[in-house]
Amino acid sequence: MILNAVVFGHGSHEAAWRGPGVQATAPLELAHWVACAKGAEAAGFDGLFLGDILCLQDRPEHHPSEALDPFLVLAALAAVTEQLTLTGTASTSFNHPWHLARRILSLHHLSGGRAGWNIVTSSYPQEAANFGWPEMPPTAERYARAEDVVQAVKALWSGWKGVSRIADTSTGRYLSHAPKDVGHTGRYGAVGGAVNLSPAPYDWPLLAQAGSSPEGMAFAARHADQVFTVQSNLADARAFRQSVRNHAAQAGRDPDTVKVLPGLVPFVGATRVQAEAELQNLSARIGLDHVLTKLERFIGAPLAGLDPDQPVPIGPDDLTDNRFSNSRARLLLAEARQGGLTLRQLAARFAAGRGHLLVVGTGADVAQVMQSWVSGGAADGFNIMVPELPDGNARFGAGVMPHLSR
Ligand SMILES: Cc1cc2nc3c(=O)[nH]c(=O)nc-3n(C[C@H](O)[C@H](O)[C@H](O)COP(=O)(O)O)c2cc1C
Repeated sequence: MILNAVVFGHGSHEAAWRGPGVQATAPLELAHWVACAKGAEAAGFDGLFLGDILCLQDRPEHHPSEALDPFLVLAALAAVTEQLTLTGTASTSFNHPWHLARRILSLHHLSGGRAGWNIVTSSYPQEAANFGWPEMPPTAERYARAEDVVQAVKALWSGWKGVSRIADTSTGRYLSHAPKDVGHTGRYGAVGGAVNLSPAPYDWPLLAQAGSSPEGMAFAARHADQVFTVQSNLADARAFRQSVRNHAAQAGRDPDTVKVLPGLVPFVGATRVQAEAELQNLSARIGLDHVLTKLERFIGAPLAGLDPDQPVPIGPDDLTDNRFSNSRARLLLAEARQGGLTLRQLAARFAAGRGHLLVVGTGADVAQVMQSWVSGGAADGFNIMVPELPDGNARFGAGVMPHLSR
């Protein structure tokens, strides 16, 4: 079971920054990240996973959405961790492949071969605006660009194939020969020359992908070692994983090399009642209006004006292409329909983990769900999104890991 600790701000719950004793500006300080990372490593996680978007989130006046560059944070964390893979998110829409190729390899060297790149296409209209684009292109175009950019990055890394680093001070010879001129011409990702850093002596960095649309799945099957996905029930998760595996086989890859990791939000208590109380305590710290604004963005339909205590009147079949995340919108609305959730209930569910699998219970309960998903063919592991940071990773270690080990 592969386990990454997802580290994003104060934790996965929208209200985490308003918990008792929390410092609202903590994620601007290195000490916060060091505590998250050390907690994860001591708990026995395999990797750290840092998401990123290239804009402030909606309603920045009402919650902390300032964000440090994930690769700079990970470079600092390389110095205080030894085993964790360090995966950072970088967009194929707003980065040049040459910069990506070097930035990721830089982290790879600084961490002794532990770097990962979470490949995303970006989706917020504010991100488009920040880079002078009138709007985000449709999903298919974003993934066409992603394909081109990833191929260019791989071409830059491949340019060093067969070049040995001799580094002999006595003879004055540094390389066996110069890396080859890449000359990759793509519509979006043209690069020439070579990147000024070789992957050697390491294998290539780990490639992860986050996105669950059909285009995203096909892309992941071609390139990703790990797929980060939002799944909230075992049957759909199993179908998703099977589909990724089928796509991988069609692309000529061994399906076992593509690991599917659904996000999981654990609320762990000594008893189920205590775990539920923790969730309720956090939920009570956040306003409905705030959550609805964010939920609207994911669903792509107006929610203001609807009665919060009536069942959500929109279903997954009512969706049009919202260019943001169709896969997430469909999942949230399907869940609301199946569970007969009111808008207020859906908002609480969303605030806790944005639609990711939410497990509330004892450590044994959480471990049991994880085990059943893996043995049921629905997951190869999980991206664990603890509700509150920096303590959550260590608490997961104490509360859940012993049951998993057993
Ligand atoms: C689990 C998950 C995590 C994601 N994390 C990020 C992220 O950190 N930054 C980002 O720009 N996009 C992120 N995305 C968005 C995707 O890159 C993509 O733009 C979006 O999901 C639309 O694609 P889809 O319809 O294939 O899911 C994430 C998507 C998923 C499913």
